[in-house]
Amino acid sequence: MFVFCRRIFLRASLACGMVAIVGIGPVPVVAQESAAAAANRRLGRGLNLGNFLEAPRGANWGVQVEDRHLKMIREVGFQSIRLPVRWSDYASEQPPYRVEKAMLDRVDHLLQVAHAAGLNVVLNHHHYQGLDADPDAHRERFKVIWRQLAERYGHYGDWLYFELHNEPHDKLTAEKWNAILRDGIQAVRPSNPTRMIVVGPDRWNNIRALPDLRLPDDPNLIVTVHMYEPFQFTHQGASWIEGPVRSIRDRTWGTPEEVEQVQGMLGQAAEWGRQHGRPIYVGEFGAYSKAPLESRVAWTRTVARTAESLGMSWAYWEFAAGFGVYDPQAQRWRQPLLDALIPDNPLRATSD
Ligand code: GLC
Repeated sequence: MFVFCRRIFLRASLACGMVAIVGIGPVPVVAQESAAAAANRRLGRGLNLGNFLEAPRGANWGVQVEDRHLKMIREVGFQSIRLPVRWSDYASEQPPYRVEKAMLDRVDHLLQVAHAAGLNVVLNHHHYQGLDADPDAHRERFKVIWRQLAERYGHYGDWLYFELHNEPHDKLTAEKWNAILRDGIQAVRPSNPTRMIVVGPDRWNNIRALPDLRLPDDPNLIVTVHMYEPFQFTHQGASWIEGPVRSIRDRTWGTPEEVEQVQGMLGQAAEWGRQHGRPIYVGEFGAYSKAPLESRVAWTRTVARTAESLGMSWAYWEFAAGFGVYDPQAQRWRQPLLDALIPDNPLRATSD
């Protein structure tokens, strides 16, 4: 994405990255990628380490990410990971809301291994259910948790990105979230003046909620959206979803109208990003393993290629659980899904 600048003064010209020409009259219009757009491009093709550190404290949701996995993820061509962590289960309930050292140490290790492997990392606060259920009661705690994380990671390179809160919903309406996200950004900025912060709209980071998102005047923000449309296809058979979707089976995907729907929705996100000068990161998309594989592959390919053609980065949901692109039992990639995500992956030839 490019920022277009037309300026006549030195300071403004420098802010736009142009060679300064002081004088009268407009200087030529030049296109220059913003720092946020460049950072979003570096996220590129990414993978969520889901069902791992986002599980409740003490619970095991069946995914154990080892150091070697991070190297493998990079080797097949992913450029970034998103690391969902349920930080709220590792901070005290009462002030000073101290985040536990043991958890910080665990995350430090993963971050360092990911960085050594050449991966950029989006460190996310996932499943902070208290904030969704009672935003006012948790507002201060949310802020203080982020202040601690930001101080801890302030000296890390620009390969580390912070994502404030996964999928705001429930009582965290657009109005509340627009206020609270500012608190989060303000908690981060003293120790991380230019760190990229990822933030998305309410209603589970829904593209349709983008028009209600209000961001402060901070250039180093990347806007995230999640894409699971049509939900009846992507979440068929998903036990954790309330209502009739969990009993849907054998629903296929891929009619021209369905392809158009996916492209149209991502197009809306791109258009919002263009109008607001914000790069867009499709931070989650995926179809659950109960959906027919051929359709999952077609849907996954369509979302990934469409997002790329619109200049968006993405992160597939997820590595090695119910949507997994990797089979942890067989210890191998699910090649059709990997090919859909990364057509030029080095393992492709062996599967053809
Ligand atoms: C959201 C939820 C996560 C779930 C995923 C797919 O990220 O937080 O728990 O697995 O969506 O439904």
